[in-house]
Formats: sequence, C-alpha cells, structure tokens
Amino acid sequence: EPEKQRYQDKIKHQLEQHNAVLIAHYYTDPEIQAMAEATGGFVGDSLEMAKFGARHEAQTLIIAGVKFMGETAKILSPEKRVVMPTLEATCSLDLGCPADAFSEFCDQHPDRTVVVYANTSAAVKARADWVITSSIALDVIDHLDAKGEKIIWGPDRHLGRYIQNKTGADMILWQGHCIVHDEFKFKALDQLKAMHPDAAVLVHPESPESVIELADVVGSTSQLIKAAQTLPETKIIVATDKGIFYKMQQAAPDKELIIAPTAGEGATCKSCAHCPWMKMNILENLSTVFEREGVDIEVDKDVAVKAMKPLKRMVEFVN
Ligand code: 13P
Ligand code: SF4
Repeated sequence: EPEKQRYQDKIKHQLEQHNAVLIAHYYTDPEIQAMAEATGGFVGDSLEMAKFGARHEAQTLIIAGVKFMGETAKILSPEKRVVMPTLEATCSLDLGCPADAFSEFCDQHPDRTVVVYANTSAAVKARADWVITSSIALDVIDHLDAKGEKIIWGPDRHLGRYIQNKTGADMILWQGHCIVHDEFKFKALDQLKAMHPDAAVLVHPESPESVIELADVVGSTSQLIKAAQTLPETKIIVATDKGIFYKMQQAAPDKELIIAPTAGEGATCKSCAHCPWMKMNILENLSTVFEREGVDIEVDKDVAVKAMKPLKRMVEFVN
C-alpha cells in the first residue's frame, strides 16, 4: 500500500507539472480509473474519451486504454502531445484489419459507403467515410440506410451483424472479432439466466449473435452502465469486460453485478472477460510515462488529415 500511495502521489505531481489530463477507458483496472477521477480527468466509453480529449484545454493527454484511442485523440488534437503508459496496448480488432487488405476490400465495392469502427488503425480510418463507435453505430447506419446508401462495414463482424439485423441495411462485413467478447457463451449464459430468472442481462454488441439474443439491453459501455442504474432489476448479468464493474457498481451501488460466463463448465478461458491490452495500463507505467521514450502517439500527417474527416463526423454526430 505505501508503494501504491507513492505511485499515486507521483502521478498527481506529474500531471500538474506537464499540464496533462488523464483519460481512461472503463476496461482499465479500477486503480487507473480512480486515478483519473481523483485528478480531474475522465473515465468513459470510446466516443466520450475522444470528445473529452478534443475539448480539454490541457497541453498533454494521457490516454489509458488501447492504441486506437491514443491515435484518435492525436488526430483530433494534432497540436497536443498524446502519450500512453504503453504503446504495446493494441486491440484484436485493429490487429485483424490490416490497412492494405481492408483498402483492397473497399476497392472491390466502389459504390459503397465505408463505415469503420473506432477500434482500427489511423490508416484504416483514413480509408473510411465514417468512423463510429458502438454507442452511435445504430443511428449512423439508420441515417445512411435512409439515404439509400449501401455499406462496407469493418472490422467487427458481431457488431456488424447486430446492426444489419436491427436496421435491415445493405451491409458487407469484414470478418474481425474482439477476443474478449467473442468468448461469451450462449449456453452457459442461458443456464445462468435460468438460475437468476429475476436478473436483467446487459450485453456489449461485440459479443456473438446468440449471446446478444439473450440480452435485455445491448449497448456501448456507457449505455450499459446507464442501464444498470435505471433498470428496475436488482440483479444484473453483464457480458462485457469486467473492468466495467468499477463504474457500474458506483452508478448502481445497491445492485448485484454478475459477470456472464466466458466458457462452458470445466473449460478455461483465454481472456476471462478482461482485455489483455487494457490490462497493460498500471500505476507503475503510468507514473513513469514522462520519464520514458516511446510513449508518444505519432500519426503520419497525410494519414491524419484523411482520418480527420470521418472522425469529425463521428464526434459531431448527434444521437
Ligand atoms: P465502447 O465504445 O463501448 O467503450 O467500447 C470500446 C471497446 O473497446 C469495446 O471493447
Ligand atoms: Fe479491442 Fe476487445 Fe480489448 Fe475492446 S476489449 S480493446 S475490442 S480487444
């Protein structure tokens, strides 16, 4: 505990010294989220993080999350310094969607509007007409579908399928997935539901279709927290990264939160409902972020200019 205190004190001091603000995602460890709360920073979903960073007056943004979040912050605020505790923190959706291959995929369907998830590299965003997050995906596709536009969607196939089912839009899907959400299991969740018939089920749309079908509420991390707070049920089963429990429990202190099963009985899980890359953000590497090389997010100028357009559309899109 004294060591933890030392890290916390040092981080506070460094934030002041460098005119920096800490912006964290809900999936990071509770200690990181608490640090952001205690220092006038921010904890939110990926869209809110982007908006907060773009509007904040600090010269330096520390992004505690995964790399695409740092890149988005840098593209939206090229004049700011954007650093991350580690640049190793990537995302399986980003890894599973190389820019060259995705661009070729788009070239095969030149008549389609390209919509990509924020969980992609800057180069993939540069190829897109729209960037979306799970919190606005439905509304954006509805909007484009109403104008008669046909869509290329990348990279998350589960989110894509969910939106396609909901809107009936004409969409061609890139076949990527998130290793964390892909592990939630229909059968085990169905059994858990039967054991807790009075529980509400909240599901992030990166989960498989069969899991989404069991949900009472499907939404982004912020939308799921809101649901936990406002639903009448006192028991809540949650299919998303368990880092979310820190803020969800704060928002709904009297409710019992239960993590959805990631594997059948006796089996082992790979991620166990916690993103291995989000987990790389710890107090220790946060406390030394200004003492190390290789912590700055840099985005190629041409790529950044191209990616700015669809990203601006994302932050300016009103629900
Ligand atoms: P949200 O936009 O819902 O915060 O999701 C980001 C993410 O990485 C989900 O895995
Ligand atoms: Fe990517 Fe999944 Fe981790 Fe989110 S939880 S950052 S989508 S790997």
